[in-house]
Amino acid sequence: MQSLLKFITCGSVDDGKSTLIGHMLYDAKLLFADQERALELDSKVGSRNGEVDYSLLLDGLMAEREQGITIDVAYRYFSTENRSFIVADTPGHEEYTRNMAVGASYADLAVVLIDASQGVLVQTKRHTRICALMGIKHFVFAVNKMDLVGYDQEKFKAIKKDIRMMTAEYELESMHIIPVSATEGDNITMKSDNMTWYKDDTLLGYLEKIDVHHVEDEDGFLLPVQRVVRPDHTFRGFQGQVRAGSLKIGDAITVLPSKETANVKSLLVGDVKVDEIVNGQPVTIELDKEIDVSRGCVICKDRKLEVSNLLSTRLLWMDDSHLVAGKNYFLKLGTKMIPATVMNIKYKLDVNEGTHIPVDRIYKNEIAKCEIAVSDKIAFDCFDDNENLGSFILIDRVTNMTSACGIVLHSLRRSDNLTWQELDITRQFRAEQKGQQPKTLWFTGLSGAGKSTLANALEQRLVSMGKHTMLLDGDNIRMGLNRNLGFKEQDRIENIRRVAEVAKLMNDAGLIVLTSFISPYANDRQRAREIIGTEDFVEIYVAASLEECEKRDVKGLYQRARKGEIPNFTGITSPYEVPEHPDITINTADKAVEDCVDDIIKILGLEA
Ligand code: ADX
Repeated sequence: MQSLLKFITCGSVDDGKSTLIGHMLYDAKLLFADQERALELDSKVGSRNGEVDYSLLLDGLMAEREQGITIDVAYRYFSTENRSFIVADTPGHEEYTRNMAVGASYADLAVVLIDASQGVLVQTKRHTRICALMGIKHFVFAVNKMDLVGYDQEKFKAIKKDIRMMTAEYELESMHIIPVSATEGDNITMKSDNMTWYKDDTLLGYLEKIDVHHVEDEDGFLLPVQRVVRPDHTFRGFQGQVRAGSLKIGDAITVLPSKETANVKSLLVGDVKVDEIVNGQPVTIELDKEIDVSRGCVICKDRKLEVSNLLSTRLLWMDDSHLVAGKNYFLKLGTKMIPATVMNIKYKLDVNEGTHIPVDRIYKNEIAKCEIAVSDKIAFDCFDDNENLGSFILIDRVTNMTSACGIVLHSLRRSDNLTWQELDITRQFRAEQKGQQPKTLWFTGLSGAGKSTLANALEQRLVSMGKHTMLLDGDNIRMGLNRNLGFKEQDRIENIRRVAEVAKLMNDAGLIVLTSFISPYANDRQRAREIIGTEDFVEIYVAASLEECEKRDVKGLYQRARKGEIPNFTGITSPYEVPEHPDITINTADKAVEDCVDDIIKILGLEA
């Protein structure tokens, strides 16, 4: 079977990247006949005085792909007698880090173009770094435009030295440096007569024979469970694609993160029973006993994976909106999808120089080291050991868009020594003792909308009905528990997280909790709902317009904010995201407070 090589080409606009690939396809007779004729005709009016302009071939593809808005990486498939190739072509400008990273994440090898007349540039370092960060361990440096420097061996030697210095910091498995001329065809598919001093392979020759096979992948067996099937009560199977190693009937396996063990009873590939399954196959595994396995678990043998809920990671931020510490996403790793919080941003990486820059925000196209906490323990690997179980994406919980892709650097075991302590007096007991169902009534709205007034009146009513309650109010909590928080985005996120945790504890104590916080971000309110539990969380939107709140201006804060005396003031210089589907909406402008309380009591079904 011909082996497949997936590679990426990196170069800036004028490095001759399109010409290089175009020439390779043309020389190797990999074009369809009509494409070839079109190319020759086009070139008559092109930029090379009637000579074939190979870049037209790829530029044509690019124009095609520009029509598709979301596709930023062009893939070209071709085969020679010796090998099949997929080449990812990505734009090289600085703002396209993301595209290059996406292309690099699919590739085994990178062809980095260097203009011989210019040598190693800042962009060369950037391209190399992005590819290395995305896990590429095989590099070819094509020193192009050798014709422009008179095929000078000394010039090539000097660039070669610079490349070696640049790559010294990476642990590469292979590296090759080739002097070429993409326009003239030197050392692309045929040995150059102009550079007889270069004795090694041509670019295509090298790409045909380089071995990029990963040996570590073969150690032990790994299968991230994609689906649990139970066609009838006699059979329960776990399906997924084998990601490493092989497994036989009778083998002892461990399921992570639970660490439960069992033996393999039967194996299926498609609907065919087999004795052994191997890497890459989509399979079904039946075990000899009932153990707890669900989607996202990993079945393994002779293979140690990390199990933790805290990861040290490197992220490439891809979202139009920025990242701050505390933000909550879904993390997808292998087949597992789980709520995750970016706990802190350690630093941002300068992709040109590799230096670390301390920051509190990450913007689109930036790469950063971050610590991420997931809501439960998961099984994963470090990226260096297993690309599949060591890389992940973060998904925005509101838009469902991919916000980042990342790799796991290592596990953080800070929370490994903690065990949940079961208490004898339960939440249910405490609730029954008080004769009520604990709930959190979460008031949200602009400052001055009437949240505190309403929450206060509602609490009085509930107490008069014999309920046991507690009111958590923004200003008050900020004078105590949250004294160390301000009004920047990350502080508000932490403010709401703590309040949600406190409300949950008070619910556990059997109380009905009322909270009165602006809580401006939809994402944080959603997270509060999850912390507290959907069935016990009631989102009450106190809907008063900015104009109305500003007119009231009970605390005089709006006036001061307008004068620029209060930074990040909600509604003025900081956003408020109106709830899309609140459980209850109250318009305080239309009604007396007591009528609003009546409405809420009725909707909650708490009337006497
Ligand atoms: S939240 O955004 O983090 O939910 P929270 O409800 O705790 O805010 O606090 C809001 C209260 O803090 C407001 O009612 C107001 O009295 C006061 N405050 C002081 N500075 C600001 C500000 N920059 N933005 C909003 N409220 C502020």
